[in-house]
Amino acid sequence: MSVAKKEYKRITVKTLVDMKSNGEKISMLTAYDYTMAKIVDGAGIDVILVGDSASNVMAGHETTLPITLDQMIYHASSVIRAVDRALVVVDLPFGTYQSDPKEALRSAIRIMKESGGHAVKLEGGREVKDSIKRILNAGIPVMGHLGLTPQSIYKFGTYTVRAKEEQEAKELVENAKMLERIGCFAIVLEKIPAELAREVASQLTIPIIGIGAGNGVDGQVLVLHDMIGMTHEFNPRFLRRYMNLYEDMTTAISQYVDDVKAVEFPNDKEQY
Ligand code: KIV
Repeated sequence: MSVAKKEYKRITVKTLVDMKSNGEKISMLTAYDYTMAKIVDGAGIDVILVGDSASNVMAGHETTLPITLDQMIYHASSVIRAVDRALVVVDLPFGTYQSDPKEALRSAIRIMKESGGHAVKLEGGREVKDSIKRILNAGIPVMGHLGLTPQSIYKFGTYTVRAKEEQEAKELVENAKMLERIGCFAIVLEKIPAELAREVASQLTIPIIGIGAGNGVDGQVLVLHDMIGMTHEFNPRFLRRYMNLYEDMTTAISQYVDDVKAVEFPNDKEQY
């Protein structure tokens, strides 16, 4: 079913809260560079996340931990140059906000000043509450991130579904309520049971954006390179691939190699 997209000139944090109260679902994808961000924004996405998944997708690291603040600022400023409409949220990378609130604020200010991003996202609940408050007090919008938080992968040990047990589910609900109370404008819930995500979305007035959290939430986010099938080794159940660019690009590039070798490219019309 195709749903009419409402015409918003520019998406702000307030637009997202209005979308939730009007029952309009929020679409969000990652982007890390100018060319991709131009396509994603032009296609009508509501939120672009300059995710620290750039560490995996762009740099080939096994986890999100190695990416630096300077690298995130580089990616975010490339995205910002492409975007006319979407809200651009930038991840605070691992190690730039956990040690103390002042450092967290300094990191968030660098992102806002040097990249031109519109908001920051960071992972965690009550353990990062003071850092979030400090950033919010400076007028910087914050998106929370609960459930599977990839920056804590070495604590969890695996990327399996979180909050299946009652105690962890209870803590997640408490943390989500706390994030709303202190002023976060939205929360990402990653890889948790759909029923739990639905319950959180129904209890909170701020938008809940899910990834692997079912369809009872207020919006969905995916990693762009996964949803267009540029990556092909990552196959979680929640991922829908809308294209198979890995295969298409491999075919195209291999055809180009053959054409160059056979002096089929360039032809007479493709030269001066
Ligand atoms: O970094 C990222 O891409 C993310 C999404 C998975 C939500 O945080």
